[in-house]
Amino acid sequence: MKPSVKTVDFLVIGGGVAGLRAAIESALAGSVLVLTKDKPTESSTGYAQGGVAVALSDEDEVCIHFEDTIKAGDGLCREEAVRILVEEGPGLILEMISWGAEFDREGSKLSFTMEAAHSRRRILHSHGDATGKEIERVLINKARSFPSVSRLDFAFTLDLIIENGRCIGASVLRDGSLINIFAKAVILATGGAGQVFSRTTNPVIATGDGIAIAYRAGALISDMEFIQFHPTTLYSPAAPQFLLSEAMRGEGAVLKNIHGKRFMPEYHEMAELAPRDAVTRAILSEMIKTNAKHVYLDLMHLDKNFVKKRFPVIYATCLQYNVDITEEMIPVSPAAHYIMGGVHTDVEGGTSIKGLFAAGEVACTGVHGANRLASNSLLEGLVYGARTGRRAVKYIEEERIDITAPGAHAAATSNAAPMSSLDIEKTRSTLRQIMWNKTGIIRCDESLCIAKKWLDKKRPIMNMPFEDRRGFELKNMLTVADLMAASALLRKGSVGAHYRSDFKGRGEKWQKHTACLRGKEAEWMNFESPLSTRGRGLG
Ligand code: FAD
Ligand code: SIN
Repeated sequence: MKPSVKTVDFLVIGGGVAGLRAAIESALAGSVLVLTKDKPTESSTGYAQGGVAVALSDEDEVCIHFEDTIKAGDGLCREEAVRILVEEGPGLILEMISWGAEFDREGSKLSFTMEAAHSRRRILHSHGDATGKEIERVLINKARSFPSVSRLDFAFTLDLIIENGRCIGASVLRDGSLINIFAKAVILATGGAGQVFSRTTNPVIATGDGIAIAYRAGALISDMEFIQFHPTTLYSPAAPQFLLSEAMRGEGAVLKNIHGKRFMPEYHEMAELAPRDAVTRAILSEMIKTNAKHVYLDLMHLDKNFVKKRFPVIYATCLQYNVDITEEMIPVSPAAHYIMGGVHTDVEGGTSIKGLFAAGEVACTGVHGANRLASNSLLEGLVYGARTGRRAVKYIEEERIDITAPGAHAAATSNAAPMSSLDIEKTRSTLRQIMWNKTGIIRCDESLCIAKKWLDKKRPIMNMPFEDRRGFELKNMLTVADLMAASALLRKGSVGAHYRSDFKGRGEKWQKHTACLRGKEAEWMNFESPLSTRGRGLG
């Protein structure tokens, strides 16, 4: 297939909070093209419920938000990155309000809710539990207001184009045709990888494409063992794992086992508002003890009208599955939710490849450490999306990149059909089951080795040419799963969201980070000087 060619100054791959915020920041410096692989609204951003954490209330302070984030990160946060997040966050939220974002208020004052591991009520929310939609609405409108910004939807990025060690664009599949898009700077903002697990809160677009694409191009990937599992998703064989926001527990909902007994106070002093990993493991333990597939979330003691008004999306969605959350306990169980690791970046979104930048869930700035504090990722998307956009502008100005005559680049796919669509779907489904069962909430050497062995056998697929989105997604999911399993095997200890039943303590070298570079699956590195590895191999 001969690709058509397009050129642009800034290529932003991803149209969620991070990609849109980066696009807005670059808009005055040149032409910007934002790619999405599906509808523009199909992103984790659009589904975000609980809200956005920001130290703006009278009772809060930036330094307390800093401390809570560091504590949740369990000793592995990069302090510089956290400081930037909490200090720059308030200004960016006020800017969003000036662009028309409507956050819920009590009278004229902003209304803040509580979520797990926060020591203050600091979560802003919109239309009750539709915060992500509001953030996305405002950013899409703002991006549209710049004539220099355009969008290409249903444009699936296959691979990056690298020339002389520099990223100069990406090859993209759209409507069955290939396009090579050349750009002076490329910003990856492709979101998370939850679809690698059979139980996940993530939308279908979250197949870890950006991490796999960057890895194939030779970028440094870090902390892939840290996957956050959300404690409460709707459990019903007929329903998807629909998220039931932590804000429900913040407003007073409690967890009960199938015998109706509240259990969280026995597991943690913060009870239902303990860190996510602690609540998730407590739920799992109760499910095992009671031989049940779920526990219950109970908010029947809360005022019915308050619940309907405060959680309108959750109320309506659960009703579709015949659960009236004001009248009955909700069956819930955990699901994969967020990846703390990803494409390794500095605090301006720079990766180990020149010309390639990354922001949002695809990136690993170290801001979340081993466990993300609830509602910090929308804020991260705004803060680091803006920083990354600014850094990309500086890069093209300083380096005077010329893309007027790009060299000939081979198509990234072939006409061969390496796997039948049936095989693709079967392998995808087996992968998701194996990842959930063997590398999920509780792992051990034995389970991780089973997953790794299965993945090793699938290595040929990770290098196959495909000509369709599902095939490419499978290749990306296998690659990301392999990096997760390799990193989890390397960390012989339990830290944050990474819990090993065979190593209850933190283990040796626990303050170092795992890193993967093509050809070297997982190594330890010192995170405090992250880009000392720029352009070089590990070790
Ligand atoms: P996304 O918003 O996921 O956007 C990814 C974009 O990349 C999409 O436009 C997609 O089309 C595009 N893309 C992906 N792959 C390709 C490809 N190959 N080619 C082209 N384009 C591609 N966080 C909070 O802080 N507060 C919350 O209340 C909250 N609630 C959540 C609820 C749910 C159900 C989920 C799933 C997550 C929630 N999170 C929340 C986490 C948060 O929403 C995400 O971490 C954040 O929105 C990620 O933003 P992003 O811009 O990095 O990626
Ligand atoms: C939630 O509403 O529980 C999700 C919040 C988050 O993931 O930050």
